[in-house]
Amino acid sequence: MNEMPAISNSEATAEDLAAERAVTYGTEAFLSKDYAAAEKRRLWPRVWQMAGRLEDVPSPGDFFTYDIADESIIVVRTAEGDRPGAIRAFHNVCAHRGRQLIDVPAGVHSVRGNARNFICAFHGWTYDLEGKNTYILDADDWHGALTPECTSLSKLRCDTWGGFVYVDMRDEGESLEEFLDDAGRILAYFELDRMRYKWRQWCVYPANWKTAIEAFMEPYHTTTTHNQLTAFAEFYAYSKAYGRHSVSGFDQRQAAETTAQGGSVSRAGKGDDPRVSTYELARENYTTINYSASTDTLIAAAARLRDELPEDTPVGEVMAHWMARAKADDAARGVTWPEIPPAVMAEAGLAWTLFPNQNILQGVTFALAYRARPNGDDPDSCIFEAYALERYPEGQEPRTEWVEAEPAEAGWGKVLAQDFANMKFVHKGMKSRGFRGALPNPHQEQKIINAHRNLAEFMGTGAPRQLK
Ligand code: FES
Ligand SMILES: [Fe+2]
Repeated sequence: MNEMPAISNSEATAEDLAAERAVTYGTEAFLSKDYAAAEKRRLWPRVWQMAGRLEDVPSPGDFFTYDIADESIIVVRTAEGDRPGAIRAFHNVCAHRGRQLIDVPAGVHSVRGNARNFICAFHGWTYDLEGKNTYILDADDWHGALTPECTSLSKLRCDTWGGFVYVDMRDEGESLEEFLDDAGRILAYFELDRMRYKWRQWCVYPANWKTAIEAFMEPYHTTTTHNQLTAFAEFYAYSKAYGRHSVSGFDQRQAAETTAQGGSVSRAGKGDDPRVSTYELARENYTTINYSASTDTLIAAAARLRDELPEDTPVGEVMAHWMARAKADDAARGVTWPEIPPAVMAEAGLAWTLFPNQNILQGVTFALAYRARPNGDDPDSCIFEAYALERYPEGQEPRTEWVEAEPAEAGWGKVLAQDFANMKFVHKGMKSRGFRGALPNPHQEQKIINAHRNLAEFMGTGAPRQLK
């Protein structure tokens, strides 16, 4: 543990965050083996977490596994006649002598399949899709001591939101809706449940899971890390806590700069002619962020702005025209846009962090999302995932699988490769005796401060302290 010099005894409160007071925190959460071990007791078993997407379990009997630290969980769709049934989650362990029920070999992202029941490979104990034990070889040998309770699978709380399946290892506590709170309410307008994977990739990355996910929480790094993008737009951003969760959006350095550009990823770029800059920014984002953070429809509509609008069209009208045309183009091919009130759109900003480890950059018909998880007990590496979601015409959704890809430009595109090029050196740099603790930007990196404030509540250590 890297001992921090005493700066202040106060720990950042929600009010401190709202006031954007400067804070610092140490490196224990990223580097300490003891902290990583404590996460297995204090964090992961006590928080709602995203296990996967409903689209991976469309039919009765479909299941996938979700591994988090030492835990392995089975998410399954139960059978209800011919209709798809409810979603259930069970610890992936046989009640008899503890064999993992579904083998999840090391180095495998997750296991998917379809089952009528789960049969343990060791002695054949069998469970139905509700987790009930249906077969025990030589059950009479127990002389009646076995009960349905002690021989069934251990169930977890499980709920869905936005097309995602969430699990919670606590027997009781807040509901998923209560947990997501305002973040869930605002993002619900984007109808993430109507989107499907466009691509999904993962890798084992040499940095703590928090170092990795934090690299995608703030646009403050864009000006330097993705400097080529500054030819197309400014990346000044605000950030704001919503309870456990948080949001960032594009901002102006001075109120006088306020334009109709908006705070989300679909915005006018910089330049004298917004018909041109809007297209150039959208195309640059799309092609260098691995064909995510926009859609073919939006890019094609942006490309036509110069032909469809007169010179000197004000930026607000350019944006409105772009959105209206893209919406009509999508409608013509069977993709309906959600109705998002302008006030919600403004509040939704650019991108959200859902505590503890889920990032979502949302658009009207697309999302670019990330998740990072511990890699076993190793605080120095993580399982990193990024995926693009998109709204498709019914029946035209692509079939995708998790693809393991080297964290480099070939598999991930230029922008993510630039992020990968930082993350491992952030993790390494934090090990320096010369590092005095983080100095996050109170306006632009509040999402990260909020994450550490939350973590400290679960972990009992590491609360951000005010910098005086
Ligand atoms: S451990 Fe599963 S049947 Fe024995
Ligand atoms: Fe980045």
